[in-house]
Amino acid sequence: MAMKDCPAVPVLQRSAARIPHLRDLFDSDPARGHELRATGAGITLDYSKQRVDTGVLQALAQLAEQAGLSEERERLFAGEVVNRTENRAAWHTALRTPTALQTTEQQCVEEQLQRMTLLVDRIQSGVWRGFSGKRITDVVNLGVGGSDLGPLMVTHGLREYSEPAVRGLKVHFASTIDGSQLFDLLDHLNPETSLFIISSKSFTTIDTLSNADTVRSWLGSHCVDEALMLRCHFIGVSAAQQKMSDWGLPSDNQLHFWQWVGGRFSLWSAIGLPIALALGMSVFRRLLAGAHAMDEHFRTAPVLQNLPVMLALLGIWNVNFLDIRAHAILPYDGRLKYFPSYLEQLEMESNGKSVGQDGELLDYSTCPVLWGEIGANAQHAFYQLLHQGTQSVASDFIVAARRYEALDHYAHQEQLLAQHQLNIANCLAQSRVLAFGDAAVAPDDNPWRRYPGNQPSSTLLLEQLGPESLGALIAAYEHKVFTQAVIWNINPFDQWGVELGKQVALQLQPLLQDPDAAAVAGLDASTRELALSIQQQQSGSEGGAA
Ligand code: F6P
Repeated sequence: MAMKDCPAVPVLQRSAARIPHLRDLFDSDPARGHELRATGAGITLDYSKQRVDTGVLQALAQLAEQAGLSEERERLFAGEVVNRTENRAAWHTALRTPTALQTTEQQCVEEQLQRMTLLVDRIQSGVWRGFSGKRITDVVNLGVGGSDLGPLMVTHGLREYSEPAVRGLKVHFASTIDGSQLFDLLDHLNPETSLFIISSKSFTTIDTLSNADTVRSWLGSHCVDEALMLRCHFIGVSAAQQKMSDWGLPSDNQLHFWQWVGGRFSLWSAIGLPIALALGMSVFRRLLAGAHAMDEHFRTAPVLQNLPVMLALLGIWNVNFLDIRAHAILPYDGRLKYFPSYLEQLEMESNGKSVGQDGELLDYSTCPVLWGEIGANAQHAFYQLLHQGTQSVASDFIVAARRYEALDHYAHQEQLLAQHQLNIANCLAQSRVLAFGDAAVAPDDNPWRRYPGNQPSSTLLLEQLGPESLGALIAAYEHKVFTQAVIWNINPFDQWGVELGKQVALQLQPLLQDPDAAAVAGLDASTRELALSIQQQQSGSEGGAA
């Protein structure tokens, strides 16, 4: 049923008009800190600091059922078509189904994992050699969007867990189309010992292919035997096998995945190769296991105890009923530095939509603007706006209870443990002040020192950040996105909104290179004047734009 027709909607609208300040919600229900939580796959979600009460929660649970969540979730897990504009499944859950439970259609997953294992083993053990016979010391992932953000985030997040045998191998990432990251890397990499992964589901993304072409030219200036260079220094990961071959990649250097894996849901596939190279295949398998545990929780837990469903429902409550259109992701853990940017793509590319599954323009809001930063650093950057600005912002705090305990051989363990406690204290302090304002301490008379509070937040508590818990955390957000899309009646698995810009860039590129000013004459006035200024500055000619 479309959201606007769900009987729960008017109930929620009426509730939104009467829901009191968070201070009053806590005063009237002292048990909420204990009761308003959901635990799944080892992660606890405390949502007591959201502006909800029992009535709101019940209506939100009804909304999920009235919108058809249970049925659509079954379709997702069964590998049926849920990406309707592209007529395909979105079967990322199959990528983490344990081998013993795989159905016949899922066996291709294990086959690719086995190929990936062999490849990882050859590289890590030094069997794979560069063109001059030296072992590989550096691997660079060339990819963008889903072919970059997930692997980068996990590799950074779990570095401490890398298997001892793989610690010599350095894994880097280059995504930017301007070549700047690559320029920095190529400056110090040794062509004889560097291996490049071209990661692209479509194998048509110009950002990635232009980086790959630059590397090919760089390597070509060191190794004249092109076939040898391609065989020893490039691996391709894609769903477009033929395109990899056309580019020149030998079939033994190709790993495959499938159209039914969405780009931003693909880190569990061979797109995770940089993760496996940096951390070890066993760590990669543990990541999959953690995600699978969250899949099972999402599939089976009742709504109000279902962690991803609650993340989704609270988001909908904030956006559609409390009119809060900004959402901050605040991990209190330096290892999760790239988690906010990973979620920016996952959430906004999936649910930044204004047309429903039926092709009709929606008359309600969908995905909020979502951004984030390591929480404690953001305290010194944008928290001022959260505490005293004019915007309402919902926040997710993410923190691990335990850290540094395994360092008992390390001389500075005690200081690090103390830093960890300080970090946790900051995390709890911020969600407390956001919720209760200066009532958390003695209020000040100066108006500029007042804190109104009532900014809602959730806290995701991990016992420890590790392969299983990170896998579960990512899967939780994937299922949050899916649940919201079901309720908003949109397709979270396409991204038509990014296509037009790519086409226009390809139209503009030759015009910018044309020395004749007439080439840009047909453009809009702003773009034309910018193009003329750029042409003039590039040719070094004097004066401003004509
Ligand atoms: O342009 C957006 C996008 O298609 C994303 O959805 C995707 O993750 C990214 O580009 C990279 O695509 P590919 O893996 O096909 O190179």
